[in-house]
Amino acid sequence: MKILVINGPNINMLGIREPGIYGKEGFSDLLKLLDEISRELGITIEQYQSNHEGCLVDKIQAAYQDADCIVINPAAYTHTSVAILDALKSVSIPAVEVHISDVSKREDFRQISYVRLACEKTIQGQGLDGYRPGR
Ligand code: DQA
Repeated sequence: MKILVINGPNINMLGIREPGIYGKEGFSDLLKLLDEISRELGITIEQYQSNHEGCLVDKIQAAYQDADCIVINPAAYTHTSVAILDALKSVSIPAVEVHISDVSKREDFRQISYVRLACEKTIQGQGLDGYRPGR
């Protein structure tokens, strides 16, 4: 079982960026958590973060016939990227959308999610715990 966890722009700035919204835990804490989960569940978790839309598309395409599930926090691209939506639809890998903050309670422009159309579920507002499978 292989899960590909994809994080979009500025997720590498966790702990530094807007701690009142995203919390004090850093990106390295997220990587540690994913490592723990993979050992606990005996599954392979690959993590990929990029600030570039095309790189995120490339990574999704590369997951074709490789990953069993994609957990994706496209960050700001959630609200703008038809390209990421199309990539997820292209590979037909079951996907889960994760947001650290509760986007449903934030600005109007964050109420649109293109990727949601290709995801089986959305987890939001649970901090880093949102990345745990079964949430
Ligand atoms: C985010 C929410 C997005 O609106 C924002 O642009 C992010 C992070 C979250 O995890 O809460 O960068 O995806």
